[in-house]
Amino acid sequence: EKFFASRKLLAGKRLLVTAGGTVERFDPVRYLTNDSSGKMGFAIAEAARDMGAEVTVVAARTDVPAPGGVELVRVESAEQMLEAVLSRYAEADIVVKAAAVADYRPVERHASKLKKSAGTLTLELEKTTDILAELGRRKSGQFLVGFAAETERLAEHAMDKLRRKNCDLIVANDVTMEGAGFGGDTNAVQVFDRDGAALSLPVLSKRETAERLLGLVASRLGGASP
Ligand code: CTP
Ligand code: CA
Repeated sequence: EKFFASRKLLAGKRLLVTAGGTVERFDPVRYLTNDSSGKMGFAIAEAARDMGAEVTVVAARTDVPAPGGVELVRVESAEQMLEAVLSRYAEADIVVKAAAVADYRPVERHASKLKKSAGTLTLELEKTTDILAELGRRKSGQFLVGFAAETERLAEHAMDKLRRKNCDLIVANDVTMEGAGFGGDTNAVQVFDRDGAALSLPVLSKRETAERLLGLVASRLGGASP
C-alpha cells in the first residue's frame, strides 16, 4: 500500500476525478438519484494526492466527507457535472470517471411542489449526456479511465463501453458480488484496456484498489491514445 504512495508515481500530473451519484430534481424537494456513496472516487482522489498528483474532484451527492489536499468542486446533476468536467478537461493529464451519473433525468422540473391527485403519476424521463463518451470524443492527449458497473457478462459489456467511449482503461465491477460495488469500503475490480484484461484485483479496500489502479495508470502514461 505504501509502496505506490511513497514513490510519487504521479508527481507533476493533473488528475481530474468524478465521484458520487448525481441528483436529478423534478420539484423543489424531490429527486432521482442512485446508491453511489462517493467512496471509490474519493479514494482515488486521496491516493492520487499521495502519489504526488495535483487533484481536482468533481463530486455529486456523497455519503462520506471529501479528502483534504484536493480541489473540490460540488455539483448536483449530470448536466452540472458535464459542465464542471468539460471546463477542466483541457488541463487534465488523467481523468477518472468514478461517478455514478444518472442515465435519465426528469423532462420537467416543476417550480412548486407537486400536489397529489387521484390515480397514478407518470414521470417523463429523458437521456442525460454521456459525460465519459463526450470526453472520449474530445480527447486531446488525456489518459481517460472509465468505470463500468455490471450485473452480467462483465468483460463483454466493459470492453464494449471502453471502445464506444474511447477510454484508455475501463474499471469494471460486478455490483452483485459480495465485497464489490456501491456503498461498502471494499471493491473487487477488473481493469480492461483495448487488448482485453489488464489487471484483475481481489477484494481490497477502496483505497488499495485506487492505489493499484493508479499504479497501472502511471505505468501506462505516455502510451495514451490521442
Ligand atoms: N457515464 C457518464 N455519463 C453518463 C452515464 C455514464 O459519464 N450519463 C460514465 C460513468 O461515470 C462510468 C461509465 O460512463 O464511468 C459507465 O457507466 P455505466 O452506468 O456502467 O454505463 P452506461 O454507459 O451508462 O451503460 P448502462 O448503464 O446501460 O450499463
Ligand atoms: Ca448507466
